[in-house]
Amino acid sequence: MLKVDNISLYYGAAQALRGVSLTAEPGKVTCVLGRNGVGKTSLLRAMVGQYPIAGGAITFDGVDISSLKPYERARRGMSFVPQGREIFPLLTVEQNLKTGYAPLKRDQRNIPDDVFSLFPVLQSMLGRRGGDLSGGQQQQLAIGRALVMRPKVLLLDEPTEGIQPSIIKDIGRAIAYLRSLGTIAIVLVEQYLDFACELGDNFAVMDRGAVKFTCDRSNLDPGEISRAMAL
Ligand SMILES: Nc1ncnc2c1ncn2[C@@H]1O[C@H](COP(=O)(O)OP(=O)(O)O)[C@@H](O)[C@H]1O
Ligand SMILES: [Mg+2]
Repeated sequence: MLKVDNISLYYGAAQALRGVSLTAEPGKVTCVLGRNGVGKTSLLRAMVGQYPIAGGAITFDGVDISSLKPYERARRGMSFVPQGREIFPLLTVEQNLKTGYAPLKRDQRNIPDDVFSLFPVLQSMLGRRGGDLSGGQQQQLAIGRALVMRPKVLLLDEPTEGIQPSIIKDIGRAIAYLRSLGTIAIVLVEQYLDFACELGDNFAVMDRGAVKFTCDRSNLDPGEISRAMAL
């Protein structure tokens, strides 16, 4: 279990996170919602160690990982699909996937079958350059690369942003499958409310760097979330 406890984060003098707490459990999808600029990406960056927190703690299976470097968190199974995908445009699809080997031991360095069964297009385009793929295909590649790392925690930052509906469906199916494995804690940052409501087990709505509203699947009211997002 990944636990974010009362963290704060500053960019210079500007505070981007104010006492944010969140938990992510294996086999569950934890959704973080909120408009542009409320701190969703900052929260994920803090979780993977791309930006230092100024207060609070992040623990993973009971161990405080707050001061670990990003590569150390990756070795422990934290895998990040960044907003805007950040694939390598000049590398082939296969080379992009293999960048996910970095945190793995030598005997684990292969591409799991799940990557190609979830996203068959990647198999058929293995030799193509990442930059030649459509936006939706690049998003599938970014998720595939994250899966190569055998994640225990998978963090997805707005995976549906700017993606065509048919590929959004594929991505939704992939997330539902990964959740059904029961071994991966998934944190899904989204602005697309219907997509999040379909997949989510727990929901946190952020506003101005803080969590303003939470609920879970049992008391989910999309209208209420939508109002919280419009605050
Ligand atoms: N590297 C940065 N330096 C300074 N300010 C930043 C930086 N990244 C984000 N911000 C600011 O922090 C706030 C939260 O941004 P962000 O976490 O990207 O929000 P979201 O992902 O919800 O759109 C915004 O006001 C944004 O302008
Ligand atoms: Mg963002």
